[in-house]
Amino acid sequence: MRKTRLALGSLLAAVVVGLSADPVAAQPSASAELINGLNVKLLWIAIPITLLVEGILIYTVVKFRNNDDPSPTKENRRLEITWTIATAVILLFVGVASYGVLADQNVAGPPQAEDASGEPVVVHAEAFQWGWEMSYPEAGNFSTGTEIVVPKDRPVVFEITSRDVIHGFHAPQLGLKQDALPNQVNTIRTVPYEEGTYQGYCSEYCGVSHSQMYFTIEVVSQEEYQGWLDEQQSASEE
Ligand code: CUA
Repeated sequence: MRKTRLALGSLLAAVVVGLSADPVAAQPSASAELINGLNVKLLWIAIPITLLVEGILIYTVVKFRNNDDPSPTKENRRLEITWTIATAVILLFVGVASYGVLADQNVAGPPQAEDASGEPVVVHAEAFQWGWEMSYPEAGNFSTGTEIVVPKDRPVVFEITSRDVIHGFHAPQLGLKQDALPNQVNTIRTVPYEEGTYQGYCSEYCGVSHSQMYFTIEVVSQEEYQGWLDEQQSASEE
């Protein structure tokens, strides 16, 4: 019993240390940070549980392998109360952690009225069989084909829709995924943190050239974005 307590105690200590540590290294966007951070937190719960359950299983199989005269287990009220409370605490933690991420405006939550990180850049992403038409409705409504350019450290709101069938807007590295439905505009928001070019693609099977529905999201500095914007606007005015 003492050994078991010791093992459970060290397992619990490892979980607490793991959860309080910085969950993930720098992430390319606010959405990716939330999603990957939650993934790491849940792993810190799942790994010890797996080790505990498999450990007990292996121990039991080895210890009782030659037992020809098994005796039934007696009721152990303390043990039953313990595992009921432990399960409740674990599920409560998982629930609170998950809903915290889901309710965030950078994942699936409603946009907050006050946005501390500035006026969002709005990108309209329209899917069709088989391609994308990206445009900037609040900056002259010019189109950029399959290329999205956004500044870093500023919120971006993607308005996602479709001209024909159901498609999916998916940029996995940035933690972005949203359905593109005809006659409906779905929004998704993030704040990009790192400059770079990120691959996006259609995530809903939509016909023979589904696999060709690529697009790119290029995250650049605010100055570079302003320069690019001026260029696009003067080009579309001509
Ligand atoms: Cu569009 Cu798959």
